[in-house]
Amino acid sequence: MGMDSIQFRDVPETGIDRALSLAYLVFHESPEEEKRKHHHDLLLGCTRIGAYENGELVGFLAAFPFTVSVPGGELPCPCVTFVSVAPTHRRRGVLSGMIAELFARATADGAPIASLWASEDAIYGRFGFGAGTLGHTVEIDSRRPLALRITPDDRPLRLVDPADAPGLLGAYYDGTRAERAGRIARTEAWWREEWLVTEDEEDDELSPPRVVVLGGHQTNGPDSPDGSDGSDSSNGSDRPDGSNSPDADLRTTPLAGYAIYRTKTRDDAPGLVRLDELEADTPAAAAALWRYLASIDLTGQIRAWGRPVDDPLLLFAADRDQVRVTGEFPALWIRLVDVRAALAARSWAAPVDVVLDVRDDRLPANAGRHRLTASPDGFTYAATEDPADLTVDVRDLAACYLGGTTTDALVRAGLATEHTLGAVRALDAALRTARLPHTVDEF
Ligand SMILES: CC(C)(COP(=O)(O)OP(=O)(O)OC[C@H]1O[C@@H](n2cnc3c(N)ncnc32)[C@H](O)[C@@H]1OP(=O)(O)O)[C@@H](O)C(=O)NCCC(=O)NCCS
Repeated sequence: MGMDSIQFRDVPETGIDRALSLAYLVFHESPEEEKRKHHHDLLLGCTRIGAYENGELVGFLAAFPFTVSVPGGELPCPCVTFVSVAPTHRRRGVLSGMIAELFARATADGAPIASLWASEDAIYGRFGFGAGTLGHTVEIDSRRPLALRITPDDRPLRLVDPADAPGLLGAYYDGTRAERAGRIARTEAWWREEWLVTEDEEDDELSPPRVVVLGGHQTNGPDSPDGSDGSDSSNGSDRPDGSNSPDADLRTTPLAGYAIYRTKTRDDAPGLVRLDELEADTPAAAAALWRYLASIDLTGQIRAWGRPVDDPLLLFAADRDQVRVTGEFPALWIRLVDVRAALAARSWAAPVDVVLDVRDDRLPANAGRHRLTASPDGFTYAATEDPADLTVDVRDLAACYLGGTTTDALVRAGLATEHTLGAVRALDAALRTARLPHTVDEF
C-alpha cells in the first residue's frame, strides 16, 4: 500500500499506550511499569501525532510544549520526541508525513521554531533542521589534583538535598537562559522527574544525583549580597525596631554556582564522576566546582558529557593533557518553521541590511528573496525583487540562528553563497551572541 492509505491525526489519550508500545518496539526497550507510567504522564502533556493505516498506528511523534531561549528572548517551541515508525512501514514517507503535520500545527499555534535531539544525526537535515547548539564531551584525569591557572573561589561548598534543588537552583538556572540561547524553561516537574531523577536512564550503576552549590548559604553581617558591609547601620542592626537579636544580621548570600553529578565505582578503572551540569557566575566559582569534582575520594575520572563549546575550563585548565575534549556533537536541532517570525523574535548585535535568498523545499512560504534590515533597535523582513546578497538553505540558517555558527563558516564550507562581498561579515556581526548557545536537556 502506498502513502495514500496513511492518515496523520492526533493520538487520543486512550491511544497513548499503543503509541508507547510502538516507541519501545522501535527503540528496542522493554521498560518496567513505573517507567511506562512516567512516559505515559509525559505524553499526556505533549502534542501527539499518529500515522494510521486502516486504523492501526504505524507511526508516532510527540512534542513537548516547551519554551526555548533565543538571543535576547525566548520562544514557544514544540520539542519533538518519541519519533517512531513501525519496522514494517519504514522508508515509505511516514516520518516525512508526521513532520509535515508537526510543521502545520506549529504554524497554526504560532510557534516559529521547532526542535529535537536526534538519535541519528543523518535524519533531520532534510526536513530543514540545523544543529542549533553543540555539546562537548570532556574528560578529566582526576587521579592527580586538577591543575588550574586561576585561583578558585575559596568560599565553602555545600551539598544540598536534590529534593530542595529545584527551589534553590531554579531561578539561577533561569538566569542562565538569558546568556545561553537554546535552553528550555524547566518546570518544577521537569527538574524533579527528568533532571534529578534518582535512577539514571542510561546507566543504573550510577549513584543518584548529587548537587553541590557555592554560595547561597546563610552568613552573619558583612558578606551581604550588595557587597556593603552594613557599617551605615550604627547600632549594628538592620531591623526597623533596632533590636539586636543573635540572627539579626543573618543573610543568605547569592548563589555563585552549582554542579549536578553522579558517581560510580568501577572494577577496571578508577571511580567515575559523571557531570551533568555545572554553572557558575565567575571563573573562580567555576574553578572551585571543578576542583571539588576532581578531588572526590575514590574517583579518578570526570566525564562531562554535555559542556558548552566555549567552556572557560578549557582556558583556565593548566594541563590540557589532563582536561581533554573527547567529542563534539550536535545537541539541539532547530527548525525555523516561520523564518520571519523566528528572526523577528531574536535580538541583533549590530545593524545589518542584506537580501537573503532562502531555500526551503519543505515550507515554501519561507523560500525566496527577503530583505533583512535589523539593528539593536529594530527589525524588518519582507519579500523583495532585489538581487540576493546571500543564498542560504533554511537548515543552515537554523544553525546560525542561536549564534552557534556563522554564515562565514557556511560560505567557507560551500553551503551558502555570498553574492555581495561584505554581506556575510555584516550578517555575522548582527547575529553574534556573547556566549555560544548551549543546552543539556535531552528529551
Ligand atoms: C528513523 C525513522 C523515524 C524514519 O522513518 P521513515 O518513515 O522510514 O522515514 P521516511 O520514509 O519518511 O524517510 C524520509 C527520508 O529520511 C531518510 N531516512 C530515514 N531514516 C533515516 C536514517 N536512519 N538515516 C538516514 N536517513 C534516513 C529516508 O531515506 C528518506 O530520505 P529521502 O527523503 O531522501 O527519500 C524510522 O526508521 C524509525 O522509527 N527508526 C527507529 C527509531 C528512531 O531512530 N527514531 C528517531 C528518533 S530521533
